[in-house]
Amino acid sequence: RLDPTGCPVSANAAAFDPFTGPYQEDPPGSLRWSRDEEPVFYSPKLDYWVVTRYEDVKAVFRDNITFSPANVLEKITPFNDEANAVLAKYNYAMGRTLVNEDEPAHMPRRRALMEPFTPPHLAQHEPMVRKLVRERVDSFIDRGKAELVDEMLYEVPLTVALHFLGVPEEDHETLRKYSVAHTINTWGRPAPEEQVAVAENVGKFWQYAGEVLEKMREDPSGPGWMQYGIRLQPQMPDIITDSYLHSMMMAGIVAAHETTALAATNAIKLLLEHRTLWEEICADPSLIPNTVEECLRFAGSIIAWRRVATKDTEIGGVKIPKGAKLLIVNTSANHDERFFDNPDELDIRRENASDHLSFGYGSHQCMGKNLARMEIQIFLEELTKRIPHMELVPDQEFTYLPNTSFRGPQHLWVQWDPAKNPERENP
Ligand code: HEM
Repeated sequence: RLDPTGCPVSANAAAFDPFTGPYQEDPPGSLRWSRDEEPVFYSPKLDYWVVTRYEDVKAVFRDNITFSPANVLEKITPFNDEANAVLAKYNYAMGRTLVNEDEPAHMPRRRALMEPFTPPHLAQHEPMVRKLVRERVDSFIDRGKAELVDEMLYEVPLTVALHFLGVPEEDHETLRKYSVAHTINTWGRPAPEEQVAVAENVGKFWQYAGEVLEKMREDPSGPGWMQYGIRLQPQMPDIITDSYLHSMMMAGIVAAHETTALAATNAIKLLLEHRTLWEEICADPSLIPNTVEECLRFAGSIIAWRRVATKDTEIGGVKIPKGAKLLIVNTSANHDERFFDNPDELDIRRENASDHLSFGYGSHQCMGKNLARMEIQIFLEELTKRIPHMELVPDQEFTYLPNTSFRGPQHLWVQWDPAKNPERENP
């Protein structure tokens, strides 16, 4: 079997399947062979070129002209006609937001919309995040057992995301219902019989996002990021387009919500699996910020991202034809020993932990990274302070939504002895 440039495809490359098997079990470990032997390979099952070493992944992120992000929100699995007809019925038209926008349109839009992400603006959200987390912990602290995803880690980032975007409270419930469909629609491999149901939810999500946006337009005075964009639109209609606003209203929820929920879940699971590290941060909370970086490196929530080559080019010496679609595996880069010493060791004092590529790199690097960091830090601060004796419920099975890019366990059970809660012993 040959790749599109006429070179033979290796057995490992031919076997690569990101929707099942080794990649789903241990994404960075499943690509060790590639980092060592074939760091850029063509996957016939996916029809993507896969890039796995740190320097190569970073180089692709850095050059958004040669490697366009135009395909970032495309369906990785094309839908059947019936599912496409459902999407058409809802006038589904996910377009360019920021993450999938090319230059020269991208940078002026990113600059125009940056202010709400700056430190003074983000600081305004901190008391709300703290309050939400404390209330969730209050709800289960005396119980001695909790499923952290359903009871806190899903909920809080969603509420924060909706507040950040400026979605009116009364619409939170409906948007919450639809948002997971977007992940499967974009990064999953739904079976043909599932595709219609996914398309229904995606279509409804799209339609509802449009209605919420219209409501915001009637009174765009609120503090949300969407209202900020709506207010700018009359001054720069070519930069803040209607298509941008509608697409971001939908994609923004997923960008801000699932990413953060999954990253927090990964971090707590990892630290409880490395008990001595958990105890170290309980004893010294000043370690938490770097711990968050190290957890994002070790088990980030976006494990692979996409690009498309705009001309014939090369990555790490491998010829890539114009039009080639790339899967750039950030989690593999984050476990590349050519860049990180002992990459498979969780080291909360690692000096270069924040060089991870979990937020991407370069001109599209995640705009919400500091909001996400704040949320994960607050989760860890509150849990280590209030339930330091918490442990994972033994022998639980972790399940993951099969897809290329969004990674984190769907449930995380923890337990502790409430009689030993520090607040009871030391009220
Ligand atoms: C872009 C990851 C949280 C908003 C991105 C990209 C990644 C990413 C990989 C693409 C970067 C690139 O192409 O170089 C994450 C992770 C998060 C997170 C792992 C949580 C742990 C958030 C939050 C928000 C947000 C909370 C919003 C409040 C955005 C936006 C972009 C983006 C607007 C597009 C930036 C651009 O293209 O210029 N994020 N993200 N993200 N993210 Fe995040």
